[in-house]
Amino acid sequence: MSTADPRETAKRAAAEAAALLVEDGMAVGLGTGSTAAHFARALARRAPRIRCVATSVAIEELARSLRLPVEPFGAPDGLARLDLAVDGADLVAPDLWLVKGGGGAHVREKVVAAAADRFVVVVSTDKLAAAVRAPIPLEILAFGAASTLRRLGGTLGPVELRAGAPPSPDGGVIADYLGEVGDPVALAAALEADPGVAGHGLFPPIMVHEVLVGDDDGTVARLPATPS
Ligand code: A5P
Repeated sequence: MSTADPRETAKRAAAEAAALLVEDGMAVGLGTGSTAAHFARALARRAPRIRCVATSVAIEELARSLRLPVEPFGAPDGLARLDLAVDGADLVAPDLWLVKGGGGAHVREKVVAAAADRFVVVVSTDKLAAAVRAPIPLEILAFGAASTLRRLGGTLGPVELRAGAPPSPDGGVIADYLGEVGDPVALAAALEADPGVAGHGLFPPIMVHEVLVGDDDGTVARLPATPS
């Protein structure tokens, strides 16, 4: 009898399907979280000759332990574009809006996704939702954080500091918007209009090339569904 956790089987299936997209010579963005960690392990097993950038210290450390070559993503003369970025998500809506940032890495994750020609999302089926809903992770500039939180709470709805969350590697404060979402376009625009918000975890469908959805039987479905 298998003792494998069905959810981990599903995540691993999606991650292994994404690893098959990687070819020698590619520059690859490594996402953060348990599904992205499965991707890093699958990538290391394939061991193509690639260059990588990491969205968090945790995935960078894992990647280095797997002997994946991770480069800084900050030097002006460093990698300026990526062929592919692969990352998990906390929620995938039917129109492919994503919520990310359960691990607090959403700002770097969005920068890496935006740098990639293809941003591929790897999830288990439990991440599929009928609509975008809170919590929506936020990263708030440390400078003026109390006033930003007060302003957001007054104009948008409840925002809470995430208990126990360390600051981001860029010094940002991690919080969550807990109010109604309604139209994610409008909420994303309102958050982006606030000068104290460094970033939020709403990822629009236009960023998403494909979502690979692993099931606990090891099969993988692709969204948007391709006609058969
Ligand atoms: C990290 O900040 C997040 O965006 C993760 O990608 C997201 O929380 C998914 O994580 P899991 O793959 O662990 O579910």
